Amino acid sequence: MSCRPIGLFDSGVGGLSVLRELSRQLPQENVIYFADTFHMPYGPRSAVELQKLVYAILHFLQEYNVKLVIMACNTSSALVLESARQEFPFPLVGMIQPIAKSLAASSIRRLGVLATEATVRSDKYAQEFRQAGFTGEVYSCACPALASLVEEGAGLDHLEGVLTECVAPLRQAQVESVVLGCTHYPFVAESINRVLGGCIPLLNPASYAVAQAKSLLTARHLLRSATSAPRETLFVSGDILTFERRAGQLLGRQIVATQVGFSRQEGYFTHIY
Ligand code: DGL
Repeated sequence: MSCRPIGLFDSGVGGLSVLRELSRQLPQENVIYFADTFHMPYGPRSAVELQKLVYAILHFLQEYNVKLVIMACNTSSALVLESARQEFPFPLVGMIQPIAKSLAASSIRRLGVLATEATVRSDKYAQEFRQAGFTGEVYSCACPALASLVEEGAGLDHLEGVLTECVAPLRQAQVESVVLGCTHYPFVAESINRVLGGCIPLLNPASYAVAQAKSLLTARHLLRSATSAPRETLFVSGDILTFERRAGQLLGRQIVATQVGFSRQEGYFTHIY
């Protein structure tokens, strides 16, 4: 049993879709969520840039003695997870491998993935599915503006206009299911469903990632038992009010966050007192 927190991070509000799943599957756990809105979006960034940011976040979370971190960001999971596992002492769970392992033996023959440009460029979804034994086709498709539109809370017309263009290759490929390969996307699942024609099942990797985190913690006897209400701490590197407002809308409850700064020279996130 351990009261140490579980860490989660993303470029912004997207990872809250993973936090929401975590509070369903592991409601007794203390959590620390880091939203790097100062550097949002991550999708257009190179692997080198992203590694610096992700390592800085992981160092920050390490100070809080996290027992496990979920990279609640597909882009980071695609580009940085493997190297970060060599660098940090706590277990790291990504968004891609758990769903790939769970669906490898499914009957799906034509799987679509909707993700950021960096995730699509990395080809990580296809690689992980193949490695897990999946023998169908994986069609990955980038929607570069979508995460930012979700972050800003763009209107439905604009959102669905952009989406219609993005998903055209998936419709053309006649995929049977679509993985929401960016943690911002589950918040607009209804719109994605509509532009895909309303009858293609959408898969959210969050439930698989949290299930993997749960089994890792169970195996290590590190689950927290519910003796008191769990603590939730949120940090944000960009504008705090914008984040609190948007996070509150998406989760349907009041969100209070703490500001952190970024030292460009040292490449570290710092507390602001
Ligand atoms: N939500 C993130 C992901 O899952 C990053 C989106 C972005 O900042 O571009 O990929």
